Amino acid sequence: MHLSSKDLLGMKELSATEIELILNTADTMKLVLDANSKKTAHLQGKSVITLFYENSTRTRLSFEMASKFMGASSANISASGSSIKKGESLIDTAKTIDSMATDIIIMRHQQSGAPHLIASRINASVINAGDGMNEHPTQALLDMMTMRRHKGTLEGLKVAIIGDLLHSRVARSNLWGLTKMGAEVRLAGPATMVPPGLDQTPAVWCPTVQDAVSDADVVMGLRVQLERQQSGLFPSISEYARFFAIDEKTLSLAKPDALLMHPGPCNHGVEMPTAVYDSPQSVINEQVTNGVAVRMAVLYLLASRRNQA
Ligand code: CP
Repeated sequence: MHLSSKDLLGMKELSATEIELILNTADTMKLVLDANSKKTAHLQGKSVITLFYENSTRTRLSFEMASKFMGASSANISASGSSIKKGESLIDTAKTIDSMATDIIIMRHQQSGAPHLIASRINASVINAGDGMNEHPTQALLDMMTMRRHKGTLEGLKVAIIGDLLHSRVARSNLWGLTKMGAEVRLAGPATMVPPGLDQTPAVWCPTVQDAVSDADVVMGLRVQLERQQSGLFPSISEYARFFAIDEKTLSLAKPDALLMHPGPCNHGVEMPTAVYDSPQSVINEQVTNGVAVRMAVLYLLASRRNQA
């Protein structure tokens, strides 16, 4: 079985069968990562370019490591060190990279829809590594992989996602992905940070963090995106923390074996205190580990599809 599109642009575009294919492949890739030698030949002869217009530690590094583990020729371009700084357009930049026999471009961009814009104009496969406030599909896939490995299935899970919903591409991707797999997604956060059109999604809106977390199987904090913040969405960081931080008392309302997650990077003391971040329920570092396996799986499946085509 193959992915239906040459690109991975969002969880909204993936079917439940495709999500399951990626998660099953990622479980296999995890076996490779756990082995003594991490080298495979899955991407031998393929070239992979990362093109990041925004900062990243986890996503960029894990894609780079995944490409290297699987034998691809890989390179990275950051906006600050390229002809983007001379005013070259996004489409011209993408076409330039495409003209160098590139198989896969992994792109992060501050504008929602930027990966979709280039994907339809180039031959290379495009992976969305985060576009503005829209989607971050590989983050949702690694979150779902982590949940599935602990809980056995995603079907019927109650997942509480807490915080800055307005700016969060992680929340949006998890909402589409998890509900397609039969999970219940509960959202809570400041009323000023509720994205428009939420009532037209399968999400369950909860008036308080406590309502969302009660009896949940998974509790996920979202980063307060200070770089995307307009003024006035909440009075102060300390007031945000007072009402929306996931502290020990709030976490105790979830199921006793609930997982505590965060996509990172975390503002300690804002989204949650360090004691919760480091608690036995936290799988935050495991999310990072699973991120490499998920990105190996996505790269492998897109490369296989190209071979078939
Ligand atoms: N979660 C996430 O996307 O982290 P980075 O910004 O470090 O890639």
